[in-house]
Amino acid sequence: MIHTSTPMFAIASGKGGVGKTSLTLNLATLLAKQGQHVLLLDGDTGLANLDVQLNVQPVKDLAHVLAGQATLSDIALPIPQLSTGKGSVTLLPGRAGHSGLTNVTQPQLTQLLTDLRALTSNATVILIDVAAGVAPAQLIMCAQSTATLLVSTPDPSSLTDAYALIKLLWQNHGTANTRLIVNQASKTEGQQVHTRLSTAAENFLKLPPLPLLGIIPTDKLYSTAVRSQAIAALTYPQSTAVEAIEALLPKLLLPSQKAA
Ligand SMILES: Nc1ncnc2c1ncn2[C@@H]1O[C@H](COP(=O)(O)OP(=O)(O)OP(=O)(O)O)[C@@H](O)[C@H]1O
Ligand SMILES: [Mg+2]
Repeated sequence: MIHTSTPMFAIASGKGGVGKTSLTLNLATLLAKQGQHVLLLDGDTGLANLDVQLNVQPVKDLAHVLAGQATLSDIALPIPQLSTGKGSVTLLPGRAGHSGLTNVTQPQLTQLLTDLRALTSNATVILIDVAAGVAPAQLIMCAQSTATLLVSTPDPSSLTDAYALIKLLWQNHGTANTRLIVNQASKTEGQQVHTRLSTAAENFLKLPPLPLLGIIPTDKLYSTAVRSQAIAALTYPQSTAVEAIEALLPKLLLPSQKAA
């Protein structure tokens, strides 16, 4: 792990479609509202999604950075619509279907993440929307982060893939920095998912108990917002899913990392 004071969170899952991108954007919005300066990295090197969901058209993106044609500061795009409080959100956009990004090498990626943390921006939190899967790129992003926010739904395949991510992070990187968020689940389902994953990691990998950050219910307003390229935290702030995301914020940042 790279040591720096800016906390960096990798939002990852193993299985696709479990809610990482929408959670990342809602977390960013709520953190900005609390005064944090959030830097968002589109870590989906194959199929970038954050720009689409935000309805922005970046001129330069990570592909330019990897090609040596731009620096991270050059591509940083302020997102005023998410910067409602005293804080701010800035996007480092990716690009969908670009071979330079899809084929990013491990040293390139490690360098990119090192540069990201050294970026002389005023960021107080870094969030990475990691692609689905357990390929080396995903594992590097998680291993280099302060914590991996592992998103799983109660679906058995999502749970299996979440466990695979915990296992590979531990076996390949010696990293046990995972915290669980169960999405699209009732309280009972969420607790069951937590028990199953934590028990498996404790029994088979001899890891300490897996911290549970939160359980987010299935919420029609939340998916309505996603479909209309809106952010539920802004359009439906009282929705049950947004309230559940808000409830996990105090556990995310240490007291010393909270904005004044
Ligand atoms: N709590 C929720 N309630 C209702 N719908 C949800 C919830 N969380 C996610 N969804 C829906 O699930 C779908 C997938 O969400 P999202 O794109 O955020 O997932 P993802 O993990 O980023 O997917 P991918 O792996 O393809 O990048 C979206 O249509 C979104 O509206
Ligand atoms: Mg996504």
